[in-house]
Amino acid sequence: MTNKDFLTAADAAARQAGVVLNDWQKRFSVTEKSRANLVTEADFAAQDAIHSLLKKQFPDHGFLGEEGLNESLEHSDYRWIIDPLDGTSNYVHGFPYYAVSIGLEYKNELIVGVVFDPTRDELFTAIKSEGAYLNGSSIKPSLYERLDQAMVIGSIPPGVQENDETLNRFLRVIPHAQTVQRTGSAALNLCYIASGRIDAYWSSSLKPWDMAAGVLILKEAGGKTTRMNGQPFDLYTPDLLSTNGHPIHSELEILL
Ligand code: IPD
Ligand code: CA
Ligand code: CA
Repeated sequence: MTNKDFLTAADAAARQAGVVLNDWQKRFSVTEKSRANLVTEADFAAQDAIHSLLKKQFPDHGFLGEEGLNESLEHSDYRWIIDPLDGTSNYVHGFPYYAVSIGLEYKNELIVGVVFDPTRDELFTAIKSEGAYLNGSSIKPSLYERLDQAMVIGSIPPGVQENDETLNRFLRVIPHAQTVQRTGSAALNLCYIASGRIDAYWSSSLKPWDMAAGVLILKEAGGKTTRMNGQPFDLYTPDLLSTNGHPIHSELEILL
């Protein structure tokens, strides 16, 4: 098995999950996991579709998925990290900015990433050391150097309380950036930096399945991810600062 084979399998699984999400679009019901943190039948059905497709091909691999999927196999060096629907709030409201995210780790290192946006039929992909692609065409981050030229996405977690530090952080960046947005899909935000549509993104409340595929895609496109304070990124630590790799990165480190 090559990394290309893993990518082909992830591509098929992500597209199948997209079909499932479209199918559930008119009939899901919504449950709150916690205040404003939503989940629907579509999240579970999409995860089941991905899991069963990948498990059939790779019965010896481990799996970690947002909706209660945790199969770690002692003897396997491979682990799939799955967010079947990143951007559930957007999905619920029909705001077309959500995606399926599938990453693959080998010996704790990301080697394959796929993010599929079923609303635009856009598939972002990367294999370690082989570049990043959107629907098969090579992608690169923007060339903007300064924060006052940058479109930045900031994250405020669902259900945030008044006076939370995440709100203060957002307010601190606004006067310095050209534009600050909040969009609701970490996976797509990372792919949008990778493809030059936005220039930076930060968050302090992410899980491995939000980041795994997108971080690899951004790295392979030539972008940069660290922790918010500039220390090395860690998939199992909840904060991240991702940029096009230009000095915007250090400007944001200071503000965050
Ligand atoms: C959420 C999105 C959002 C981020 C939240 C995540 P979900 O994922 O990635 O951008 O701010 O922290 O939980 O719940 O829609 O899969
Ligand atoms: Ca998510
Ligand atoms: Ca999710």
